[in-house]
Amino acid sequence: MTGSKIPGYDEATRAARYILAHSKVRPRVGVILGSGLSSVLGGLREAGQIPYSRIPFFPKTSVAGHAGVLHLGNWGKVPVAVLEGRMHLYEGYKPAEVAFPTRVLARAGVGTLVVTCAAGGIAAAASPGSFMIFRDHLNYQGANPLAGPHDARWGERFVDVSEAYDRGLRREAKRAVRACGVKCFAGVYVALLGPSYETPAEIRALRRLGADAVGMSTVPEVLAARQAGLRVLAIATISNRAAGLSRTPLSHQEVLSVGKKTGRDLARLLDTLMPKLGEA
Ligand code: HPA
Repeated sequence: MTGSKIPGYDEATRAARYILAHSKVRPRVGVILGSGLSSVLGGLREAGQIPYSRIPFFPKTSVAGHAGVLHLGNWGKVPVAVLEGRMHLYEGYKPAEVAFPTRVLARAGVGTLVVTCAAGGIAAAASPGSFMIFRDHLNYQGANPLAGPHDARWGERFVDVSEAYDRGLRREAKRAVRACGVKCFAGVYVALLGPSYETPAEIRALRRLGADAVGMSTVPEVLAARQAGLRVLAIATISNRAAGLSRTPLSHQEVLSVGKKTGRDLARLLDTLMPKLGEA
């Protein structure tokens, strides 16, 4: 947690300039990697790395499995920026700090954002090792990065999120899923604050509210990305059945170890998808 002033638009611009000054890559697609999903980085060629600690105004990460490194390289022919490590509200970051790296990528020229995360499975189809393509979300974090003093340079104050997850990208993702043979479904993600996992009663309630998978991230970045006009695709890797839906107790270690396996599937999926993501 920084505790200092929340970085704003000018700081995001300076951070983006720093990144572009330290890489030849001019990223068109941004990827945010969730817990334990770092094996996805194998797809990146000629990659350079910049630790978050060197990028001006970037918050620092603290959770195991979130390294805090920006990778810039080419994925196939597509110039890509990958954020390995994200900030979470449960770490004590302010919503605008959580969204800051996303905003920096937008300032650096990224037009399409792929957000990944680990999630607990609520829907029957959400078995460990499967993927969920976000159709929509429920924001139950009690926070929104767009709240607070408004700087019109970020985008609109009242952002329409009735189609937060780009229809065309979802269609392409489904095609790629079929080509890769990975287990996948489309569904609604509910974001909670964490860091405790949910109670079985909460999961029963969330299921009734229409949630298919549950996690503690992603939504702040998506809201900031939509305000900046980015096309968004979000994919959750289901690491466990949510609380009360299986006999095994939930553990972060399990989330990381399932993530390692599904990370390889996710890499294959992104390999197939990336040419399409680079198009618009
Ligand atoms: N709940 C919340 N977040 C998670 C879970 C879960 O069961 N699994 C991975 N991230």
